[in-house]
Amino acid sequence: MNILAIETSCDETAIAFCAIRGGIHAPKISILSEVVASQIDVHREFGGVVPNLAKREHTVNLPIALEKVMKKIPREKNGKPEKLDVIAVTVGPGLEPALWTGIEFAKKLGKLWNVPVIGANHLEGHLYSFLLAQSAARPRKGQKSKLFPAIGLIVSGGHTILVSMDSMISRKVIGETLDDAAGEAFDKVARMLNLPYPGGVEIEKLAKTGNHTAILFPRPLIHTKDYNFSFSGLKTAVLYYTKNNPSAKIADIAASFQAAAIDVLIHKTIRAAQASGAKNIFLSGGVAANSALRKSLSGAARKNNMRFFVAPAKYNTDNAVMIALAGFFSRMRKKKYALTARGTLNI
Ligand code: KG4
Ligand code: ZN
Repeated sequence: MNILAIETSCDETAIAFCAIRGGIHAPKISILSEVVASQIDVHREFGGVVPNLAKREHTVNLPIALEKVMKKIPREKNGKPEKLDVIAVTVGPGLEPALWTGIEFAKKLGKLWNVPVIGANHLEGHLYSFLLAQSAARPRKGQKSKLFPAIGLIVSGGHTILVSMDSMISRKVIGETLDDAAGEAFDKVARMLNLPYPGGVEIEKLAKTGNHTAILFPRPLIHTKDYNFSFSGLKTAVLYYTKNNPSAKIADIAASFQAAAIDVLIHKTIRAAQASGAKNIFLSGGVAANSALRKSLSGAARKNNMRFFVAPAKYNTDNAVMIALAGFFSRMRKKKYALTARGTLNI
């Protein structure tokens, strides 16, 4: 299946052209062309994403991104990429004004080229990005996939979700955050420390120069039996510590906060895998770009005799390749998402 995928749910305008072969239980993706146009510079002065600015930027960036992607793809006379089967566009979750720009753009292209347009779930995109991991081995024909059962941890700016997967298409959400998402906590703590937006990357950079054992921040819900998360108490603890200790080294605060957040994420993920007998762990979402998290979860998985899959860092933050994957699974399963922007949408 040849897919043109479009992602505009937040502050990245992304388009990718991918070929996915091999069927629903052993897909293999080839990325033929892709572009991610980041709006970070536009939103930085506001300290976060401004939805209407995001919408304006997507409108400007989409035709430019498409042109760039198409440079590598042979086209037909009307500009349509050769052998294009479907256009997949993110319909949610995300910022609705931003989502609409992608949806309208996709619909216009679909009409112009006479190609079907399907909706894609952004969270499914993150989840399936494990297929971009270097070690995402495909089972041989007729051989049972060794990738399952698996536990997927999605950690992004808006979500923190633990998913139990029995196969490529059978899954159940077993836990999520009760308040802030992991990425949101990174961004808010970064703001407290006067670091620029986007905060996650800045915390990671600063943490490398700090002592992660300097301050013992709380690890909310780490010992509860369920698989839910809570990051708002940790964020508040950092706020009070920072106010009460104005001379503390901010690198130590960043490192100690990061260690607390990672500790909880790893503890719950490994426990979920142990309880469900899963031998595979899939990590995804923007926070999965964090090298300390990748390293710690990978080490914990190895210690517990589990395999660990994570896409290269650039496919953890928002991109359109993951939307091609989400679109592929929707199409193969005949699951249809209406072409309407959905601020909230479950996985
Ligand atoms: O998946 P994503 O790009 O967008 C959403 O779907 O939300 O995730 C963005 C989130 C932001 O909160 C950002 O600060 C965080 O991912 N993030 C990181 C890192 N890179 C991005 N958090 C920690 N360390 C990083 N290196
Ligand atoms: Zn995302």
